[in-house]
Amino acid sequence: MRIMHVSAECYPIAKVGGLADVVGALPKYQNQLGGDSSVVMPFYNNTFTQKHTFKTIYSARVSLGHNEYDYSILKLKSNVLDFDIFFVDIQELLFKDYVYSADDTDRFLAFQIAVLDWMLTLKKKPKYIHCHDHHTGLVPFMLQECYCYESLNKIPVVTTIHNAQYQGWFGYNNLYKIPDFNLDNIGLLDWNGTINPLAAAIKCAWRVTTVSPSYMEELKQDANGLEGLLRHESAKTVGILNGVDTEVWNPETDTYLIKNYKVSTVEAGKKANKKWLCNEYDLDQDKPLFAFIGRLVGEKGSDLFPDAFDVALNNNDISILLLGSGNPITEGGLNVLKKEHEGKYNAFIGYDERLSHIIYAGADFLLMPSRVEPCGLNQMYSLRYGTIPIVRNIGGLKDTIVDIEDEGFGFVHQNTSVKDICLSIERATAFYSNKKELKKTKKRIMKIDHSWDNSAKKYMQLYKSIKKAKL
Ligand code: ADP
Ligand code: GLC
Repeated sequence: MRIMHVSAECYPIAKVGGLADVVGALPKYQNQLGGDSSVVMPFYNNTFTQKHTFKTIYSARVSLGHNEYDYSILKLKSNVLDFDIFFVDIQELLFKDYVYSADDTDRFLAFQIAVLDWMLTLKKKPKYIHCHDHHTGLVPFMLQECYCYESLNKIPVVTTIHNAQYQGWFGYNNLYKIPDFNLDNIGLLDWNGTINPLAAAIKCAWRVTTVSPSYMEELKQDANGLEGLLRHESAKTVGILNGVDTEVWNPETDTYLIKNYKVSTVEAGKKANKKWLCNEYDLDQDKPLFAFIGRLVGEKGSDLFPDAFDVALNNNDISILLLGSGNPITEGGLNVLKKEHEGKYNAFIGYDERLSHIIYAGADFLLMPSRVEPCGLNQMYSLRYGTIPIVRNIGGLKDTIVDIEDEGFGFVHQNTSVKDICLSIERATAFYSNKKELKKTKKRIMKIDHSWDNSAKKYMQLYKSIKKAKL
């Protein structure tokens, strides 16, 4: 089963968030199930591309309206990944030291057109194309509608929505950049008077998936304007929960950790990682350590952190450590707190893969009070590392975390509010003092199986089910 994933991110090559983790893991697990899965992504100028060598397998020019750009398809020479990976190298547009920017319309439109132009030349074409998020949202439309891709339009295409907040909107002044199609069908591109790549994908893909079952249900009520469309296309939608790449996220072998551990050695292992964190960030290792890792954006509820942390630190004998970046106002508020709660609170504003792993290992509790959480990987990583998650009851968090009072293993609250965050921190602090239960829970959560095996199977079944039926 030849599957081609098309994505803007893929771990370990380029990662902004969970999309990269998914695209870096799903193909590997599909291959373990006998698939022949590969990824095509933009060629960015980053550490990975600087440190590896690539072979040019195809070169041509891609048209973006009146402009033409040279591009090459590169293939990674070494076998560091468990799947083939191809890169679209458009030096002028894509070869940057960032993944996303303000001129993404041109960048990702050119990427998508180049991918399809190249696909036309392939002797062995993919049996299925799997697109991820709005950056690849015009692939299903172009396959279905553009004259030049007619020979590819029998290839079933699946779109996975990782986050429907971002839809890639652009104005009709850019329409001429899309290869020719029958203008009678222009409505397929449109949502509320602008070109909406995510809406076009929902209309034209053969199947539409989201990254958890609950998020799919939520999207049908509120999808940043696309809820009616998702209800209308309901027959072709399904929610499949993401998984954990258990080779990357394994406390027993994780090379980033200060000390590795498994279920039977969890106490000593977590203690060593916590000690390192507390030394490094001037915190008291005898106090319960609450952590947050993530993008500082409204969806994650992070705008509430400066207030919530202030209240929680005043009312409880705890430590808090945050790793993240995003909204400058939130970043400012989080930095100000450092002085007010010296020795009890610290924050690293930025992105640091290694530190994130040590935090999953060394923290006692992980905070995720998200307003929107399509799946969320952090809570699954934290389970695997024996760190108890504190989550809001939404999206993928709802599908993975059960409250301790319901015979579960985490702390679940209903609202993204300072009050609910602080109440959960209070409950968790009380739980921390029950050493016997705490120990038992750490061991219990480490054994929960969220590996990709199950979900990868579900995607394979989905592809098979659509072979002949375009809905
Ligand atoms: P999202 O994709 O919405 O950001 P997810 O929970 O799906 O949320 O995935 C986030 C991923 O990004 C996880 O692998 C998490 O560890 C990582 N991550 C987020 N922020 C940072 C950061 N500042 N430093 C290191 N890793 C981060
Ligand atoms: C998005 C979502 C996140 C999800 C990730 C991977 O970034 O915000 O919840 O886990 O994609 O699917």
